[in-house]
Amino acid sequence: MHDILPETTPAWQALEQTLRTLAQGYGYEEIRVPLLERTELFVRTIGEVTDIIEKEMYTFEDLSGDSLSLRPEGTAGCVRACIENGLLHNQTRRLWYLGPMFRHERPQKGRYRQFHQWGVEAYGYNGPDIDAELILLSARLWRMLGIDGIVRLQINSLGTTESRARYRAALVEYLSAHHDRLDEDSRRRLHTNPLRILDSKNPELRDLLVTVPALGDYLDDESGDHFTGLRALLDAAGLAYEVNSRLVRGLDYYEKTVFEWVTDRLGAQGTVCAGGRYDRLIEQLGGRATPAAGFALGIERLLALLEDSAAPVVTPSPHVYLIAVGATAERAAPGFAEVLRDELPDLRLCVNCGGGNFKNQFRRADKSGAKVALILGDDELVNGVVGMKFLRDERAQEVVPRGELARRLRAAVL
Ligand code: HAM
Repeated sequence: MHDILPETTPAWQALEQTLRTLAQGYGYEEIRVPLLERTELFVRTIGEVTDIIEKEMYTFEDLSGDSLSLRPEGTAGCVRACIENGLLHNQTRRLWYLGPMFRHERPQKGRYRQFHQWGVEAYGYNGPDIDAELILLSARLWRMLGIDGIVRLQINSLGTTESRARYRAALVEYLSAHHDRLDEDSRRRLHTNPLRILDSKNPELRDLLVTVPALGDYLDDESGDHFTGLRALLDAAGLAYEVNSRLVRGLDYYEKTVFEWVTDRLGAQGTVCAGGRYDRLIEQLGGRATPAAGFALGIERLLALLEDSAAPVVTPSPHVYLIAVGATAERAAPGFAEVLRDELPDLRLCVNCGGGNFKNQFRRADKSGAKVALILGDDELVNGVVGMKFLRDERAQEVVPRGELARRLRAAVL
């Protein structure tokens, strides 16, 4: 878990603003759901034999004896909230959320125990048009951020639960016949979650996986048509993609379409954004059967990509630093600043706090990056004026009547 320090928050804020604008442009609304949910919600949605549930959740019992977990992802909570609040009754929904997720993984570059996701979910749409919209929306984001050249789209279809069960049987038969070539992890998964073996990063399994039965050959007609429909929509929109028949995802709720945006720039943690369709989840959690699709992107991974390719975002310096010298002026300074803020709502004004003689305060003004220092002394107060010194050029200090200050500052710094 990491701290996000002031020098980094401007990049976060800029990205968050871009995400909000993008979501609005496609008609998606924000939803905010709790960071804690009943553990059972995640077990039922993500799947008992997935890595997340088996070993990555932060789970504890609260004072009432309920088992709660910090959310490892956002889809489950979003679906729960929609069902509980009746958001899906006879209507479609396009939603997004942004916030921290928690997984007890082995930390490394691009993989953290508290990380942030921007998630986008659409409910009530059966056809592949919404799958295409979600993918095109993410593709637009890469263009807005100038990283479209370094991410690639991979898509696949997992079929329905039934067709996947037939595939699973064929896969287990094939892999069992080569049991001696499997590594320990794959042997364990063979009877719990064999599809995940397709995802194995172990190079020694590569040859074995090349000749593995293809998921696409087991697709039911409806899933096949859905996938063909999605491909036609992406082709028509001119978006390049690769069909990766071994793309299976690490969460159990998916069926039909799955997709990932990957990059070669982030080492082992190359998936920036991932998602797919989860048509049965809402019914499974007690809602009325509602088709669903969505994705989430990892903010830290995206920012790491941007760090390499985009100009750094910085917090703007104050426009003005207010120096107050003398007991009366120090007492008057906060009120003086408030009136100035009323007059110029866009002004970034930093008021000297913590006292100090003129020289000290002037040094702080310079360090703040402000363009102008205002100097309020006891004499200036009596005379209804204020000293004004431009800090970034050689202009001499001036004495400005208080009544003219707002106009002068507007012209000088705004
Ligand atoms: P996921 O593939 O588990 O999917 O996570 C989505 C993205 O979150 C990943 O592609 C990655 O960028 C980021 N991510 C995941 N774990 C970490 C980590 N430990 N550190 C940093 N970044 C990480 C989901 O969570 C699904 N809920 C996506 C979804 C939404 N599917 C449908 N709707």
